[in-house]
Amino acid sequence: MSDYKIEHHTYDVVVVGAGGAGLRATFGMAVKGLSTACITKVFPTRSHTVAAQGGMSAALGNMGPDKWQWHMYDTVKGSDWLGDQDAIEYMCREAIPAVIELEHQGVPFSRTEAGLIYQRPFGGMTTNYGEGIAQRTCAAADRTGHAILHTLYQQSLRHQAEFYIEHFATDLIMDDEGVCRGVLAWDLATGVLRVFHAQTVVLATGGYGRAYFSATSAHTCTGDGNGMVTRAGLPLQDMEFTQFHPTGIYGSGCLITEGVRGEGGYLTNSNGERFMERYAPNAKDLASRDVVSRSMTVEINEGRGVGEKKDHIHLHLEHLGAEIIHERLPGIAESARIFAGVDVTKEPIPVLPTVHYNMGGIPTNYHGEVVTLKDGNPDAIVPGLMAIGECACVSVHGANRLGSNSLLDIVVFGRAAANRCAETLTPGATQPDLPQAGLQKALDRFDAIRNAKGTKSTATIRDEMQHAMQKHAAVFRTGASLQEGVDKMNTIYSSFQEVGIQDRSLIWNSDLMETLELANLLECAQVSVQSALNRTESRGAHAREDFPDRNDEQWMKHTLSWLDPQGKVTIDYRPVHTYTLTSDVEYIPPKKRTY
Ligand code: FUM
Repeated sequence: MSDYKIEHHTYDVVVVGAGGAGLRATFGMAVKGLSTACITKVFPTRSHTVAAQGGMSAALGNMGPDKWQWHMYDTVKGSDWLGDQDAIEYMCREAIPAVIELEHQGVPFSRTEAGLIYQRPFGGMTTNYGEGIAQRTCAAADRTGHAILHTLYQQSLRHQAEFYIEHFATDLIMDDEGVCRGVLAWDLATGVLRVFHAQTVVLATGGYGRAYFSATSAHTCTGDGNGMVTRAGLPLQDMEFTQFHPTGIYGSGCLITEGVRGEGGYLTNSNGERFMERYAPNAKDLASRDVVSRSMTVEINEGRGVGEKKDHIHLHLEHLGAEIIHERLPGIAESARIFAGVDVTKEPIPVLPTVHYNMGGIPTNYHGEVVTLKDGNPDAIVPGLMAIGECACVSVHGANRLGSNSLLDIVVFGRAAANRCAETLTPGATQPDLPQAGLQKALDRFDAIRNAKGTKSTATIRDEMQHAMQKHAAVFRTGASLQEGVDKMNTIYSSFQEVGIQDRSLIWNSDLMETLELANLLECAQVSVQSALNRTESRGAHAREDFPDRNDEQWMKHTLSWLDPQGKVTIDYRPVHTYTLTSDVEYIPPKKRTY
């Protein structure tokens, strides 16, 4: 380890990731007087939040009657009763002040004639407990994530948070008692290894969509926080639940916002039929994503797909007219032109369900504190460690997330983490010495991967993993196909022992960076497919053809999965929270889910 330059830094809080969750937490901590660093592998405004299009849900009632209790009901139903109801209550209630804060911080929301924040319909969002369609999704045209991300970065700079940009966080530094004391990061530009010592580390590293071959996720969505947590011997939760967005552009996987259907767009099959009327007679094209993606897949499997190979579906918005399209959906008009060669004012967009979001992740409570099943206590927390945003599983999305609840999740729980740290931490408090064994473990792993001398390329292993996941952890699953996926993933996971890196440089070494990312992706994929095989029911996005029904008696519980370094997965379960935080709302008991 002789050629390493190592520098030490101490902060009250270190946030890893500068997407919407990371930035909301970062500036929230800084405002509260906590010295705060944010480590990010890409420039903050290039984080994947920038790609969020349609909007952020909040029951403002700007376009008609609405209540956060209706929003809560929709979210519990959307989650197929796997969401924790205390956390969902918190999110839906806090949505309202959180979006107003964003407005005041400068997010350029689209406006109604009266000057209020414009809100559009989104899938599964209803009024009066399922009776009508709600207009609840606050939009900045179809570039809402872009608008929010830029505003949050500006606020972070305003409040003097410190940024370590183009730094790749590799591992948590844990002590012998299981307390998180810091994190190790590699400075991509200088090659320096930076050891961050903090009272609290907040993981905000996003999802792991790139475990799959076709995803709307950026290439940076590699489950880095999930990997770090797994290697620290902590569990991940509900990793079998992967959301397929109904409308990824056929071929490229590029996202076409659900806001298109919110504005009146619709899907057709090769007969020109609006088939969603058969599957979801009330909500039709605005049913929840799992329902729409499954319906599209059935249409294709039964020979009613469009195109030469009959392997995709058409999304129409021609009838909306150029004016509405250019005012409310300018971004997708551009994406459709570039990625599908389609003029959306004249022809439909070819679309296909595409991996979009991970409902599972690092288990936390609604303050953002990481929980574990230590000593059988389902709510025991890991001191010094928090997780927020897509890498976390609070669990507000349960088995299926509703569209526009993810921008909400990142803002509400980024804010919650900052509020919690303000309550529990003392600015500038003396910290115990950094555990040397924990640091050495992190340094040794980095050095081992950097010096990997095997014969397999990172790209080959990644390609094998992505195809195995795409085929075996798909929209529809069976025990046999999942078992095949588990067998393949065991082999692929083990093949990482044979990876070889050509370039040993510490400066802008993309080969090393992609190999570190691949390790994280493999860990996520390995626990996902095994958790999916174990869950013998259908719930939300986990649709088992061999177990087509939801089974509340046996399966209304969260999966917790641990991974050992040899790739062996251990699974246990913890109960879903079936209680609310206040008497403003009652527990919503399970019922059949129809749209
Ligand atoms: O369709 C969309 O605009 C995506 C939004 C979301 O995933 O929440």
